[in-house]
Amino acid sequence: MAGVRGFIQELPKAELHLHLEGSIEPATLLELDASLTAEEVKAHYQYANFLGFLRSYEWVTRRLRTPADYAHVTRRLLDRLATENVRYAEINLSTGVILWKGQDFAPIYEAVNAEARASSVEVRWIFDAVRQFAVEDGMRVAELAAERTGDGVAGFGIGGDEARGPAGKFAEVFAFARRKGLRLAPHAGETTGPETIRASLELGAERIGHGIRAVEDEALMRYLRDHDIPLEVCISSNVATGVVETLAEHPLRRIYEAGVPVVLNTDDPAMFHTTLVREYEIAAAQFGFTEAELRRLAENSFRYAFSACGS
Ligand code: ADE
Ligand code: ZN
Repeated sequence: MAGVRGFIQELPKAELHLHLEGSIEPATLLELDASLTAEEVKAHYQYANFLGFLRSYEWVTRRLRTPADYAHVTRRLLDRLATENVRYAEINLSTGVILWKGQDFAPIYEAVNAEARASSVEVRWIFDAVRQFAVEDGMRVAELAAERTGDGVAGFGIGGDEARGPAGKFAEVFAFARRKGLRLAPHAGETTGPETIRASLELGAERIGHGIRAVEDEALMRYLRDHDIPLEVCISSNVATGVVETLAEHPLRRIYEAGVPVVLNTDDPAMFHTTLVREYEIAAAQFGFTEAELRRLAENSFRYAFSACGS
């Protein structure tokens, strides 16, 4: 494989912002649920806007019924990451949605973590709470994460609809998670403005999921740079959910030039029809990232990992 694509493929990479449930390819979903049609699945992998995406994400996640289903999609994801020379991944598990579905959490975690341990990709889990759910639901997610810090779990995050669940609502949950030694990587500044990022930083966030709306606030950009807090940028995600209107308007280059640490990620690769190699290719083709800059992005993906990992 020649050219920039080959260069990117060969770079050892880490994924720090990736949702297991968003990594399920349509073909895998059809294998899991024989009652689905290909047309129905295809229709759920296209979105008019961010809230439409969240509805699809919930629809996909509801198809996972057993620990074996969770194990199956984990294996598929890790096999694909290995082919892309992704050596390390921090994978968000939508724990809040598993509890909402009324499923028994322990066997599901055992199943996915067994796949993780069997893979050549080194994995840490981030348990994700749903910000539009109640604080007690978020606390339960943090408790489940805290019980497993010695068993593959690195962190706690919140995702979902920022507009309906400001970070401050979860102050006591973040405080609990920190006391228990969990690392904090909430989504913020994806669909709402810089104030959500500021609120997340006040609660101890160490990385920001997306965070692209930071560009609207120069003082915040300086703070992120000076405190070495990275943004987990997911270009294709932002275009597919409409949080940026066009690819050309994506602020990746501005964030990078401002000296704010950046890590490139896929977010929900199957649902956004992308791969990590593809995200690096977009950085090169659309935003003029040179090979030296791409290498720096790949180095960042290890530097800002929550666990020391070899590259
Ligand atoms: N859950 C899965 N993907 C997400 C995203 N991009 N934003 C918020 N929550 C999510
Ligand atoms: Zn995400």
